[in-house]
Amino acid sequence: MVLNKKPPIYNERDRQSLRTAAKFNAQLMDHLRQYVEPGVTTNDLDRLANEYTLSHGHTPACLGYRGYPKTICTSVNDVVCHGIPNDIPLQDGDIVNVDITTIVDGWHGDQSETFLIGEVSSEAKALVQTTFDSLWKGIHAIKPGGRVVDIGRAIYHFARAKGYEIVREYQGHGIGRAFHQEPGVPHFPDAKLGRQIIKPGMCFTIEPMLNIGGYRTSLDRTDGWTVRTVDGGLSAQFEHTILMTQDGPEVLTVTESGPQEGHIF
Ligand code: MF3
Ligand code: CO
Ligand code: CO
Repeated sequence: MVLNKKPPIYNERDRQSLRTAAKFNAQLMDHLRQYVEPGVTTNDLDRLANEYTLSHGHTPACLGYRGYPKTICTSVNDVVCHGIPNDIPLQDGDIVNVDITTIVDGWHGDQSETFLIGEVSSEAKALVQTTFDSLWKGIHAIKPGGRVVDIGRAIYHFARAKGYEIVREYQGHGIGRAFHQEPGVPHFPDAKLGRQIIKPGMCFTIEPMLNIGGYRTSLDRTDGWTVRTVDGGLSAQFEHTILMTQDGPEVLTVTESGPQEGHIF
């Protein structure tokens, strides 16, 4: 990933644009949530997301991004991220991450959620719970003047204590007019990658991917997108877009109908 050298510091006007974009993206997630159940295909979800976005006059950020073929990413079970929607119905016991990004008036909002399909194993449920909680640990680890590494340190230690591994090859990212920009946000404590100081006006995602088993991933050579765990273990992810303010982090992609901090799956 080639990122801009310096993270932009957004003024009040830009922050309003970011809030608006993130809010629409979160409303799209609210819209999709009711359809995520056994029997639905990820292509159905993709179509719903595309129609909702276009009918509100906005632009799906993923569609055509570096040649990506769909509106959303849907990552089932051992798929870590960037799964391409297909015609396979979701089945009882699956876990699926739905990752959506919208461009609203030139600004991006990005978030993802992992859903339990029907009755899932206690192992899968515990993984999803810890991944969700780890995102909030990361959010609470940051303050204006702190460093990006604080995020990865909090997520890593929390997840390792529960026995999970944390994906390293994919990170959170600065976001704004560009989909991906500085700062990179590793979910493990890499002092070098995480040395950026977080200032009010910076906007970025936190999007930890936790695995049962090893942290290593492999990219599907056929489609060029799908990322899986090397060992076939389950992987879960949650993502929010965060704006740093003078008073602390503002989570731009939460809504009242989505899972709140402390949610029990
Ligand atoms: N939404 C993903 C992220 O969180 C990126 C998806 S890029 C795509 O950064 F091309 F695969 F859609
Ligand atoms: Co995303
Ligand atoms: Co992202």
